[in-house]
Amino acid sequence: MEHEEVKVRRGPRSRLPIVVAIHSRALGPAAGGIRLRRYPDWRDGLADALRLSEAMTAKNAAAGLDFGGGKSVITLGPGVELTPSLREAALLDVGELIESFGGTYFGGPDVGTGPDDMVVVRRSTSRVFCLPVEHGGTGSSSIPTALGVFAAVRAGARHVFGSPELSGRTVVISGLGSVGALVARHVAAAGARVVVSDVDPVKRDSAYEWVDPEKALRTPADILVPAAVGGVLSPELVPELAAPLIVGPANNQLTADPVADELAARGIVWVPDFIASAGGAVYTLLREVERLDEAAANARVESIGATVSAVLDTARDKGTTPLREARQRVETRLTGR
Ligand code: PHE
Repeated sequence: MEHEEVKVRRGPRSRLPIVVAIHSRALGPAAGGIRLRRYPDWRDGLADALRLSEAMTAKNAAAGLDFGGGKSVITLGPGVELTPSLREAALLDVGELIESFGGTYFGGPDVGTGPDDMVVVRRSTSRVFCLPVEHGGTGSSSIPTALGVFAAVRAGARHVFGSPELSGRTVVISGLGSVGALVARHVAAAGARVVVSDVDPVKRDSAYEWVDPEKALRTPADILVPAAVGGVLSPELVPELAAPLIVGPANNQLTADPVADELAARGIVWVPDFIASAGGAVYTLLREVERLDEAAANARVESIGATVSAVLDTARDKGTTPLREARQRVETRLTGR
């Protein structure tokens, strides 16, 4: 096991299996959101927590933050109805488990949770970020995450097309959740033709063109933005991809690291997800822990663009892949070498 500490507990109030996985605290206390999602089996939720916490180590390290990686997962089994009272019970349970780490892990929102949920978690632990502003937090991390993704998209476009301008470019966004919807707004405002998709048809928005979710990743485009859950870029899909640039906020987009080599071999530029998606962590941790003001924290989020440029340019110059370059940056921070 590569992880430092993993706790799995059936929530005493909710009776739901809850996981907190700490991958690394080498750079400081671990930080990472609380995911609330349906899984076929709680073990799938455990596997997700292990992968997601490892990705948080890379994300926080590559972004220059003095935080390690961790993640919480509340697993909802098939057929279990998520009533408001079950939700409250699960959030109190996860808070209690977070509290048991004695300040070496901090939670926040992730897929399935938001700032209002953090108010409930706060009743069990003070180690939680992104409370609404009226509760003393900095609110939704989706806003800075989307800002960072937009900076990454522009930097990717500069690398691939020679210009960061998006006007006239076709951008496919797969996943219209809290981050995907904001990324759509940014790229549309920049003049792109925006095509969106989501597994939930009620997300269909007349402001954008719509493509069915099973077709989204294969839709011809200049830029593909994976903004749903992970594990979408597989060896089977690579030959069918139809965009020269892939960059988006979904965590753990590759089914496995070697997919990065297959993407590169096809001439597709893939921006590592843990670089592109760091805006929420960067903004939240700098504001709530380092006490930076909004402008300074946003400037650090925008600097994700410079990191993406450096990673892509160096990979091209050295003939490696963006993933290798990005992993090298993480290694350097973790080991000083
Ligand atoms: N859950 C988000 C992520 O995956 C944002 C977040 C990071 C929230 C760190 C809290 C703490 O990056």
